Amino acid sequence: MSIVLLGADGQVGYELHRVFAPLGAISAYTISGTLPGGARCGRIDFTEAGSLAALVAEKRPTLVLNAVAHTQVDRAEDEPALAQRINADAVAELAQACALHGAKLVHYSTDYVFGGEGRRPWREDDATAPLGVYGRTKLRGEEAIRASGCRHMILRTAWVYAARGQNFLRTAIRLAGERDELKVVHDQVGSPTPARWLAAATALAHARHADANGTWHVVADGECSWYQFAIAIYGEALAAKVLERAPRLVGIPSSEYPAKAKRPMYSRLDSTRFASDFGLQLPDWRDGLKQVIGELAELKPG
Ligand SMILES: NC(=O)c1ccc[n+]([C@@H]2O[C@H](COP(=O)([O-])OP(=O)(O)OC[C@H]3O[C@@H](n4cnc5c(N)ncnc54)[C@H](OP(=O)(O)O)[C@@H]3O)[C@@H](O)[C@H]2O)c1
Repeated sequence: MSIVLLGADGQVGYELHRVFAPLGAISAYTISGTLPGGARCGRIDFTEAGSLAALVAEKRPTLVLNAVAHTQVDRAEDEPALAQRINADAVAELAQACALHGAKLVHYSTDYVFGGEGRRPWREDDATAPLGVYGRTKLRGEEAIRASGCRHMILRTAWVYAARGQNFLRTAIRLAGERDELKVVHDQVGSPTPARWLAAATALAHARHADANGTWHVVADGECSWYQFAIAIYGEALAAKVLERAPRLVGIPSSEYPAKAKRPMYSRLDSTRFASDFGLQLPDWRDGLKQVIGELAELKPG
């Protein structure tokens, strides 16, 4: 199997590289042309029109893993054209190239395609209603893939975090050293999902049904608010001695948290379809948190 991995230095891309490297000849690409750790790799910039079509035509991969996205949800509100280019137009170009050359495309999408009302986990065929630029452009990316006719696996996920990269957990750990008190939103609910679990689920699903074509929701089991997630992070981090002290947490409503982009209030995704099609149900988010904190403990100097 020849694999092209796009965005090998993002949270998910980094984990995909680890998981897929033993499964085929993998060519990894980042915007800088270097991998985390400094090794050289291919260079790709999703803002350069034509570059993705040229890459697929040159490499003729059997599988393309796209972990690139404009993921800065608030910044996307100020740069909608850039978000549209990276999350939708480049994805359309990539999908058309995959269709032309018979490559399968694995692509990630988001809970932000939904409006977030109600209290039932979102299913794949629920009506989408993105609240902001990020969700809207990610949805257009999905639609472009479906329209291209390429074989594809669109995996919608949510609340992704890891021991590296930019995410809520790493921010919470950093702020523990800077603040005595932290205000955290208590009325947005979702399922924190380790990037490593997502990468493993992707590889297993592909191995079990390489011909699968469609859209699936994949998140860790269970749900919590950001406030509950923060409580659990500090609890685990203190227990694992990643932190010596934790700030006092104060739960606040979203209305009191200044953010440019509106976020869905209830964004838990229903992974039943993924479980039944691939025989794979991710464990509870608390188990994922323990593992990621364990990784952080290993990374801690001394
Ligand atoms: N993070 C979440 O909570 C979350 C939730 C739901 C869905 N997802 C989806 O999961 C996928 C992976 O997200 P992630 O959490 O791994 O995000 P991430 O850590 O922000 O990684 C995004 C990657 O895209 C790269 N990138 C950005 N602009 C680029 C450009 N113009 N050309 C080439 N590469 C570019 C980034 O490179 P640099 O870092 O060098 O800029 C980075 O490697 C995305 O499709 C995202 O929409 C994420």
